[in-house]
Amino acid sequence: MRATVAAVALAAAITLCLAHKQRNEIFVPEGEHIKEVITSPMPHTYLRSVDLPANFRWDDIAGRSLVTKNLNQHIPQYCGSCWAHGALSSLGDRIKILRGGAGLDINLSVQVILNCATATAGSCHGGFAKGVFEWGTENAIPFDTCQQYKARDEKCEPLNVCRTCWTFDDTCIPVAPYPNATVAEFGDAVGERAIMKEVFARGPIACDIDADPLHEYTGGVLDWPQKSPGTNHVVSIVGWGVTDGGKKYWVVRNSWGEYWGEQGWFRLVRGENQLLIESNCAWGVPGAWTDVNSQTPVVPPPHPRGAAASAAPRGALTREAALGAVALRSAGVDPFADADARAAAPRQQQHEVAEVA
Ligand SMILES: *[C@@H]1O[C@H](CO)[C@@H](O)[C@H](O)[C@H]1NC(C)=O
Ligand SMILES: *[C@@H]1O[C@H](CO)[C@@H](O)[C@H](O)[C@H]1NC(C)=O
Repeated sequence: MRATVAAVALAAAITLCLAHKQRNEIFVPEGEHIKEVITSPMPHTYLRSVDLPANFRWDDIAGRSLVTKNLNQHIPQYCGSCWAHGALSSLGDRIKILRGGAGLDINLSVQVILNCATATAGSCHGGFAKGVFEWGTENAIPFDTCQQYKARDEKCEPLNVCRTCWTFDDTCIPVAPYPNATVAEFGDAVGERAIMKEVFARGPIACDIDADPLHEYTGGVLDWPQKSPGTNHVVSIVGWGVTDGGKKYWVVRNSWGEYWGEQGWFRLVRGENQLLIESNCAWGVPGAWTDVNSQTPVVPPPHPRGAAASAAPRGALTREAALGAVALRSAGVDPFADADARAAAPRQQQHEVAEVA
């Protein structure tokens, strides 16, 4: 009898476990050679750790949000497209940041990535964020009003890139040209400091993570010191902070809908590579985007991308050029108040400066 109860309990535990086990959604398509395109100075070459605010998040720049909408990769059915969501959310955020939050947000089409970036980036069976940025250096990524999210893999043809349907009889037609955005540069950031500098200088970033423990998360700063066996999911880091008790954390957006976590977001202990979140992050810098149909696309000013920045002598970019600093300053906040106070402590300054080189 006792054995039966134990067996039933064990079976229940296994079912629960399986129900909460994250499918591995990270996968590099066969034949894809992972690369980077870097033409401007990397933020870790001109930002010192001491210049980073203690608390910083792009969804709260003095009360104003510079991030785009929350997404749910799992409706209308399951699709392992976390990598496309993490990549396009962070790219859309960066466009919003470069536009200073003006106008309606540019919402990029995840479905087109599933339809057309299969060989470079992935499918509903998994993929990787950097592949999305790579695809965006050679292809125009349409807005989501061209192609809504269906959570399934479709053929790459003009109808599945941008379409409209004028009447009830099933005849839809492709639309071209269409409003779009492109990627100028993309690469990796690894480790707490490099990730913070990238996020502060240029905007949110997509990071691999072990999502198994996230299935139980309901809110607060998740502290999961156990070693993770590997990564299986992609999320985007949007900022960081420190609790009143002094615990450092990341502010992260997931793509599981708002009913999950803190309205679709979570916080996780920072600086310990928990859930491997600091082990592999991908960033993309926006190239150009459509603001007005049939006009030349908007290309952001040289910093943080472009020829002028890369031609500038090393070290010519200053901490003031970081987009995080620009955003805080325009919101009337001194971005370096914290940093300068910390820098006043001589021992710490020495330590931080040594880390920059
Ligand atoms: C993008 O999505 C947000 C949130 O739903 C919405 O407010 C905004 O108007 C959308 N942008 C466009 C151009 O429709
Ligand atoms: C992308 O948008 C630009 C305008 O911003 C337009 O000139 C170009 O043709 C568009 N690309 C495609 C493939 O529609």
